[in-house]
Amino acid sequence: MSPSLLALVAVEEVPLRRVLNFTGFVLPAFALLAVLTPKEQRARLRTPLLLVGAWLALVLVSSFDRFSAGTRDVANVLSSVSGALGAARVAWMLVIDVFLKEGSRIGLSKLARDLLHAVLMIFVAVSAARAAGADAQALATTGGLVTAGLTFSLQQTLGDLVAGILLSARAPFEVGDWIGYDDDVQHIGRVVEINWRDTRLHTNDDVEVVVPNSTLSKAAIRIFTKPRPINRRTVTFDVGYQHAPHDVVAAVREALSHPLQGVLKTPGCDVILTTFADSAVRFSVRYFIEDFQRRDVIDSEVRMRLWYALHRVGIDFQFPRMEIETINPQLLDAEAKMQRRADALARVDFLGQMTPDDIAALARDSRTRVFHHGEAIVRAGDRSTDLFVVASGECIVTNPQGREIARLRAGDFFGEMALLTGEPRAATVSAATPCTLHVLHAETFREVIGHYPEKLEQVSKVVAERQAEMERTRGADVSQELKAKQQVTLLSRMRRFFAGEAEAP
Ligand code: CMP
Repeated sequence: MSPSLLALVAVEEVPLRRVLNFTGFVLPAFALLAVLTPKEQRARLRTPLLLVGAWLALVLVSSFDRFSAGTRDVANVLSSVSGALGAARVAWMLVIDVFLKEGSRIGLSKLARDLLHAVLMIFVAVSAARAAGADAQALATTGGLVTAGLTFSLQQTLGDLVAGILLSARAPFEVGDWIGYDDDVQHIGRVVEINWRDTRLHTNDDVEVVVPNSTLSKAAIRIFTKPRPINRRTVTFDVGYQHAPHDVVAAVREALSHPLQGVLKTPGCDVILTTFADSAVRFSVRYFIEDFQRRDVIDSEVRMRLWYALHRVGIDFQFPRMEIETINPQLLDAEAKMQRRADALARVDFLGQMTPDDIAALARDSRTRVFHHGEAIVRAGDRSTDLFVVASGECIVTNPQGREIARLRAGDFFGEMALLTGEPRAATVSAATPCTLHVLHAETFREVIGHYPEKLEQVSKVVAERQAEMERTRGADVSQELKAKQQVTLLSRMRRFFAGEAEAP
C-alpha cells in the first residue's frame, strides 16, 4: 500500500464520521432551501455552498497527518467555524428568508435583519472556535485586534452603521416616502430601501440615488409625504407694471376655477403678489397636489393654464428685455392676420357663400382666442351671445347634466343657438385640447346675416338637428316629423327675433 493510501486509511474513520454526521443534517436542509428559493435568487445559495466546501476541505487537511500538528489544529478550528457558519447560514435562509419572507412577516426591517444576522454569525463563529478548542485568550486578543483594526479602517462605514441605526430608531421616514436632503432637485426620490449603510432613493428620472446614512443624519431632510400625503406647490410668474394686480388675480382665479387633473380642490389654490421686482410684478400661484411623482407634469399644466388665461385677457408675461426693435412681418402684419381669419370663416359651410366684403366685415370685427384643454368656453345658462368658429383643436359639448353630446373640430361653429334665438346658452362647450377659436361679435353677425335671409333656414336646420341630439341624450325619442316641426318653429322664432332686433332703435 502506498504511503498516501495508508495515511488515508489511518484518518478515514474520523473525518468520514464527521462528514457523514454533518452532511446528514446540512444536506437535506440545503436541498430543501434550494427547492424553496426562487430561481432568480439562487445565487444566494453560493455563500452557504462555499462555506460547506471550505469546511470539507479543512476537515481533510486537519485529518492528514502529513501536515504539522499546528497546521492541523488551525485547520480543525477553521473547519468548525466554516461548517458552523455554513449550517447557520442555511438555517437563517430557511427560517428568515423563506418562511418569514425576509422577516417581513414579523415586521423585521432590513437593517434589523442585517444586524441580527451579523450578531448571530459572530456568535456562531466564536462558539464554534471555542468548541473546537481554540484558546479563549487568543480568541479575545484576536477579536480585540480585529475590532480595533476595523474601527480604525472602517470609521466611515461604522459612522454609517450608527447613523443607520439611529435613523431607523427615529424613523423620520419609511420606505415609500418621497424625500429630498439637499438643494439638488435631481436628488428628490421615493425611498426604496433603508439598510445599515445607506438609504436608496428612486428618482423620477429612473435613477437610483444611494445616500450614505451619515449624510442623511447631518442633513435637513424634507419629507414630502409627511405629515400628510399632500403637499403644496408654487408656480411663479412675472407681469409688467402696467397691469393692475386685481386683473391678474382675477384672471388666474378664473383659470384655476376649472378642474385641473392632479390639482386638489381642497385645500384650494390661491394667488399672491410676491414681489415688486425691478422690471416686473411677481405673482405666486399656490395649490395642493397628492401625486408627488407627477409634480412636474402638474406644475406644467398649471403654467399652461396660466398662459392661456392671461393671454386671453391681454396680460403678457414680463421677461428681461433689451430695446431692440425687430420687425417680424408675420406677427406685425395685421392685414395678413385678418386675411387668415377671413379664410377660416369662409371655410364654415353656412358662411361660405357670403360676399368677400361681408366675410371681411365679420373677420374685421372678430377676435381670436386660445383656450387650454379643460377650460369652459361657454357654460349652459350663460347669457352671452358670441358665435365661435373653431380654427384648431377640439371642443366638447356637454348638456346641462354633464353628458357629452358632441365634439367640434376645425371648421365647426357653436354658440349660434343663443345668438339667433336670444335664449340662454343651451349647453356647455369646453376645450378638449388646446384650441384656437375665432369669436364673432353677435351684433356684426346679425347685421351681416340680415343680408342673407335664406341662411337663416340653413342655420335653423343645424339648430333643430343639434336640439334633437340634445333631447336624445336626455333619453327623449325625437322623430323626423317632430324635428321638422321644431325647425319651422325655430325659423319663425329666429325671424321674429331678427325682425325685433331690426326694429330696435
Ligand atoms: P348655444 O346654446 O349658444 O351655446 C352652447 C352651444 O353648444 C350651442 O349654442 C350649440 O352651438 C352647441 N351645441 C348644442 N348642441 C349641440 C350638438 N348636438 N352638436 C353640436 N353642438 C351643439
